[in-house]
Amino acid sequence: MNDFRPAADEIRALARGHLPRVGLVLGSGLETVVDSIDQSATIAYDALPGFPIPSVEGHQGQLVLGEWNGVRIACLQGRAHAYEGGDPGQMRLPIRALKSAGCEMVILTCAAGSLNPSMPPGHLMCFTDHINWSGLSPLVGPNDDDVGPRFVDLTGAYDSRLRSLLEQAAVEAHVDWYQGVYLWSLGPNFETPAEIRAFQYLGADAVGMSTVPECLVARHCGLRVAALAVITNFAAGLDSGVLSHEGTLASGQQAVPGMVRMLDRFFTLLADTAVTG
Ligand code: HPA
Repeated sequence: MNDFRPAADEIRALARGHLPRVGLVLGSGLETVVDSIDQSATIAYDALPGFPIPSVEGHQGQLVLGEWNGVRIACLQGRAHAYEGGDPGQMRLPIRALKSAGCEMVILTCAAGSLNPSMPPGHLMCFTDHINWSGLSPLVGPNDDDVGPRFVDLTGAYDSRLRSLLEQAAVEAHVDWYQGVYLWSLGPNFETPAEIRAFQYLGADAVGMSTVPECLVARHCGLRVAALAVITNFAAGLDSGVLSHEGTLASGQQAVPGMVRMLDRFFTLLADTAVTG
């Protein structure tokens, strides 16, 4: 099913007039961030027409509506990844449904490996830009001109105003803060050390298996985008560790308190800010 409107209608009905302003997508190991939202309604993805059901541990598969410091939020607790079924458009319908239900922006979160020796696990990295190494796009296929243009400009894909609010929030919440370029590697295998060395030459600071498809869909339909990675490990070959999904989930959870402190401050700042221009 490709029509996002029935799911958007469902979300609007659930919101009872309090339409969400921000879509927050929670990635691997970050699902407990949802506990900080003053929740008004919860609905499983399988009750939202066309929503994908995540199959990976750490991805709950439910949408939570509520407020965080006065900002109305629709939180996607878990995502489906392109590697789960080969379709890079798995999150197209949910992101478009959020836009149609009222969201102006999305904050995307994920786990990622660090390619930068001075950006160790446990820290947060705000995306300044991305490299789409997968060669895939959720926008391939017929274009719906009512949703967005055929050719999408990705200059400034990660909104500079949101990035500076996030940076201010990190400073005020005393959370260590990095900014950098995220590279989308399709997965589900982790990378080889040779690939990681190549990605360093390409200018990537972090690597992960998600987020970029959601950014592409969001920019296509005119949503502002900010994205935050929790650095869960040094990428392959950068230390002697062995990579595992269980390891990334555990490290992700350790970074949750910092992310929550930062988002808590961010939503307070956002509540008083009209992000325009
Ligand atoms: N590679 C790809 N995806 C990831 C990694 C990694 O090292 N860590 C967390 N997600």
